[in-house]
Amino acid sequence: MIVSLNASHKKGKFNCGKSMLDNYLHNQAKQDVKRKLAGCFVLADNENIVQGYYTLSSSSVDRSLLPFEIIKKLPVSYFNLPCTLLGRLAVDLNFKGRGFGELLLVDALRRSYITSLNNIGSMAVIVDPLGEDAELFYKKFGFIYLPNSGKMFLPMITVGELFK
Ligand SMILES: CC(C)(COP(=O)(O)OP(=O)(O)OC[C@H]1O[C@@H](n2cnc3c(N)ncnc32)[C@H](O)[C@@H]1OP(=O)(O)O)[C@@H](O)C(=O)NCCC(=O)NCCS
Repeated sequence: MIVSLNASHKKGKFNCGKSMLDNYLHNQAKQDVKRKLAGCFVLADNENIVQGYYTLSSSSVDRSLLPFEIIKKLPVSYFNLPCTLLGRLAVDLNFKGRGFGELLLVDALRRSYITSLNNIGSMAVIVDPLGEDAELFYKKFGFIYLPNSGKMFLPMITVGELFK
């Protein structure tokens, strides 16, 4: 089960191979949650050892970055379009290749979609892929590269299709 990060989670040995993402979970995630900068959601084994995690935050994207087919349908008054940032997603190397990355991603998309449906407007899920391997991972699930931004996005309408 994927749940919010809490004090029972053992995260000290988490190692996904990217130190930025490891250090974030070891040292910063708890503080970010406390300060409402991010939600952090964790997949753990039955001893509560963290196998993978992701973070979500409210964000926005400059309309000039989005493809014309999308912005042409949106009111011109929106310079910054509301979106949900999937800031980090990582799986421990011991559990790589078992579908946990996909499980975490689908959970993040479902959570983002439900929030956009019932509570807070968000027209896309945005990611900042760290490296080419991460880009390929997100591309596999339909994320579109936004030129000159380092970001990729998936329209919330497309996300919604997954959960019909
Ligand atoms: C990227 C990452 C989350 C994938 O996690 P994982 O648990 O190994 O992936 P899964 O087993 O769920 O793979 C799901 C599918 O994605 C594919 N996939 C996994 N990593 C991929 C990659 N880097 N590029 C392309 N496809 C990839 C798998 O082959 C699988 O496809 P299949 O079902 O057709 O076989 C993990 O390798 C990781 O934590 N990497 C380091 C951190 C990172 O780069 N995070 C990305 C965001 S910053």
